[in-house]
Amino acid sequence: MNVPNANRFAVVIAVDGPAASGKGTIARALAAHFGLPHMDTGSLYRAVGLAVLRAGGDPADAALAAKCARTLDVAVLDDPALREPSTARAASVVSAHPEVRAALLECQQAFARQPGGAVLDGRDIGTVIAPDADIKIFVTASLDVRAKRRQAETPERDYAVVRANLAERDARDAERDAAPLRQADDSILLDTSDMDRETAIARAIALAEARLAEKAALG
Ligand code: CDP
Repeated sequence: MNVPNANRFAVVIAVDGPAASGKGTIARALAAHFGLPHMDTGSLYRAVGLAVLRAGGDPADAALAAKCARTLDVAVLDDPALREPSTARAASVVSAHPEVRAALLECQQAFARQPGGAVLDGRDIGTVIAPDADIKIFVTASLDVRAKRRQAETPERDYAVVRANLAERDARDAERDAAPLRQADDSILLDTSDMDRETAIARAIALAEARLAEKAALG
């Protein structure tokens, strides 16, 4: 097996960006390239949103959402219902509650701090969870491109509905007070609007390698 880059050093990589920007694909590819464990932090918020819906509650109910976050059952992280549009919407509502973010902070930071390094993707990895990450990449793409990508992977076939859902979630994620979606000042911007999957992955790996070489040169 040829894994030249696996475990060559501990490195923490933060990948952030809006919905359907390709950040998950890029984070998984970086994790494989550098031989690092990967955490999709969006699945934690989706799991909380799903738990609230299954309890028959309202995602806007901060106390219930925080309770669900504190008692999160890890088995739900494998539930296919996590990918449903209703869960995505609930996730973006529960994720605006500071109590929910506080309940999920420690497990994300522990994952980022593990001795061998890690890759995490989400909205606030480079700004809140791992502000000292070695490499920060902010992945984005135009709303139209992201809506087309999401349409291809969800049961909802109506492009206008998919696009409106994404726009609504973008606005909620960017405008909330608690850890809003924003590009960290020291992150590298990767706009994948005109890139296919392979090109975006190759570009992200090249950017990450260049950032590491730069850091190594600085000592
Ligand atoms: O896959 P997609 O980009 O559609 O969404 P996701 O990464 O699974 O995240 C679902 C929702 O969780 C987002 O719309 C955010 O509201 C929230 N989230 C967050 O607030 N902070 C994170 N680190 C990750 C996700």
